[in-house]
Amino acid sequence: MKVYITRRIPEPGIEMMAKEHEIEVNPYDRVLTREELLKAVKGRDGILCLLTDKIDAEAFDAAGPQLKVVSNYAVGYDNIDVNEATRRRIVVTNTPGVLTETTADLAWTLIMSVARRIAEADKFTKAGKYEGWAPMLFLGQDVFGKTLGIVGMGRIGQAVARRAKGFNMKVLYNDIKRIPKELERELNTTFVSLDELLERSDFVSLHTFLSPETHHLINEVRLKKMKKTAYLINTSRGPVVDEAALVKALKEGWITGAGLDVYEFEPKLVPGLAECENAVILPHIASASVETRTKMATMAVENLLAVLANKRPPNPVNPEVLGL
Ligand code: DGY
Repeated sequence: MKVYITRRIPEPGIEMMAKEHEIEVNPYDRVLTREELLKAVKGRDGILCLLTDKIDAEAFDAAGPQLKVVSNYAVGYDNIDVNEATRRRIVVTNTPGVLTETTADLAWTLIMSVARRIAEADKFTKAGKYEGWAPMLFLGQDVFGKTLGIVGMGRIGQAVARRAKGFNMKVLYNDIKRIPKELERELNTTFVSLDELLERSDFVSLHTFLSPETHHLINEVRLKKMKKTAYLINTSRGPVVDEAALVKALKEGWITGAGLDVYEFEPKLVPGLAECENAVILPHIASASVETRTKMATMAVENLLAVLANKRPPNPVNPEVLGL
C-alpha cells in the first residue's frame, strides 16, 4: 500500500515501514506547506504525520477515499480533526507512554533553569562578563522544599510529581477528575481547585491536553492569582496559555518567570516574549532524546502497519472506527 511520511523520522521507523509498503518521505528538512501537504497525501492509504501538520477534512479529501489510517508522531493529537476522521472511518493513532519520562525530565529542566536563572547566567559568562564571585550575582530561588502545582495529572504530570519527591516538595494538583486515592498517597499529592493551586504554588507546571476547555486556561485573571514569586512552566500545548497575557505578566512582574517549550502560535512567538530575560524559551524539544524519538518512530509505524494489515493498532485514538 501507499504511505506518506510528512517529515524524516529516525531511521528504524522508516526501515520498518519500507519493508512492508511503498513509502515516500517529505524530501525537505522543513514542514511541508499546506499546498505541498495536500498534494503529497493524494492517493495514500496511510499517512504518518507530525503535530505540525493540520490533518482536517480538506486533507482527508485531498488524500482520497482509500485513506485508512493517520498515525501521529506525537502523544498530543490536537492537529487532527478526529471527529471528521471517525465520521469517515479513518483510524487515528498516537504515541502515548514512550515520551512520558523524557518530557517530565524537560519540565524539570525548565523548573531548575528558571529558578536558578541558568540561561541568563550562561549568556553572561559566555559574553565574558564574569569578573569573579559576587554575593549578589544571579540570585535565584530555591526549589527544594517549595510547592509545586501540577495542572493535568495524567502520565506526564505524575512523572513530574514523582521527581518532586527528591526535592522534598509539597505537590498540589488539579485535573478534571481526581486520580485514585492510593495514587495520590504514592505521589504525595493533594487535589485542590485550580484557583487554590495558582494561589499556593511556587512553580505551576502545565500537563493538560489542548481542548476547547483548556484553551487559554491560564489567562490574565489566572496569572494574576499566582504568587509574584512564582514561575509558570509549560510543556503541554501553547494555546493552553494566553501568551500575550503571559508577556504582560512577565514584564509587569505579576510572576517572577516562565519556562516554556510550546507556544500559542508555534513556531511564532508573540511580540515581546523573546525579549523577556525572565523566560527560558525552548523550541518544543520536551520529547527530544535519541531514545525517545526512536521509540516514537517505531511506535507510530507499528500503529500504521497494524491498521493497514487490518489488525487492531496498539494506540488507537478513535477505537470506535475499528470493526475488529
Ligand atoms: C507530543 O508528543 O505531543 C509532544 O508535544 C511532542 O513529542
